Amino acid sequence: MKFFLDTADIGELSQAAASGLVDGVTTNPSLIARTGRKLRDVVDDIVRIVDGPISVETISLDAPGMIAEGEGFSAIHPNIVIKCPLTPEGLKATKALTDSGRKVNVTLCFSPLQALLAAKAGATYISPFVGRLDDVGQDGMLLIREIVQIYRNYNFKTEVLAASLRHPIHVLESAKAGAHVGTLPYSVFQMLFKHPLTDIGLEKFLADWKKVPQG
Ligand code: E4P
Repeated sequence: MKFFLDTADIGELSQAAASGLVDGVTTNPSLIARTGRKLRDVVDDIVRIVDGPISVETISLDAPGMIAEGEGFSAIHPNIVIKCPLTPEGLKATKALTDSGRKVNVTLCFSPLQALLAAKAGATYISPFVGRLDDVGQDGMLLIREIVQIYRNYNFKTEVLAASLRHPIHVLESAKAGAHVGTLPYSVFQMLFKHPLTDIGLEKFLADWKKVPQG
């Protein structure tokens, strides 16, 4: 499973990337807005930190607008993946951008049939939002399992990018379901390393080591 960091915060990204375990980055307009910086400045920083797919989201509502934005993003760096929303216009743009050799991450996916459409449009990634479904009382993880099954049935190349992951169990269940990628907030990424028995065990080993004659 590939790990992407779901952030536009350069400090967080630098710290996570130093682990050597970050394969890519996803951003969205809300994450960019939170930085108070210009999109281009943020993206320029991200591409310097992570050598992997970096999703940058379009904000146009019509396909021609999304295509023009996407072409502009692609010109920034070859690692840029264009994020288009799961709307009829978004899927038109996905098809056109994919046909022109660009990579597209179809975002805001909330149903398996939407994911089927995105795969048929040639999306590189589909982003089902697990946490936001949980928020409205639906089973977000079921969506991941259904999409993985459908894509396997038809050998679609589109990768399932589990998004809106809010805690480690979301990551665990996505991995068990066979999602190709999980995009994680920095806080969740940090939690994956932790287990109290690791800390207790290390403390005991170090204490015992002090009893070993040295030199
Ligand atoms: C994914 O690409 C989105 O940026 C993100 O995972 C959304 O997460 P949220 O629902 O916690 O905002």
